[in-house]
Amino acid sequence: MTNFIVTIEETGETFRCSDQQSLLHGMESLGKKGIPVGCRGGGCGVCKVEVTAGMYRKKAMSREHVSEEDEVGGRLLACRVLPDSDLKLKVLGKMKKNVCCTTNATMATIATIATMAAIVTNAQHASENRVALPNQSST
Ligand code: FES
Repeated sequence: MTNFIVTIEETGETFRCSDQQSLLHGMESLGKKGIPVGCRGGGCGVCKVEVTAGMYRKKAMSREHVSEEDEVGGRLLACRVLPDSDLKLKVLGKMKKNVCCTTNATMATIATIATMAAIVTNAQHASENRVALPNQSST
């Protein structure tokens, strides 16, 4: 068994992958992310990648997701590809933007949630500090 380094170009992430396991399985077994994970069996197409450098072996994959032209061009399903050298790849699948391109969107969402939490906290503090004036009831 030989291990190779797989690099995801969009994120610069790397992971080791044995020549006995698929690129997707190798990534998952190390708790890494970067390639979208679906059926793990070549049926859904979400793990589609383009191998831009390196050598590999491939198992049969659905023509619904990988045309002959794709296959010749290295556009394959990561769950059906095993490395034979260090590899570089780009993520192509339908879920690409959810995995590789969420950093800015995620940070904006976190900032919005933090702002809302601060507003709620301030409102709670204002409510707790309210003083009932004579002729007013505190509620
Ligand atoms: S995970 Fe479904 S085709 Fe690879």
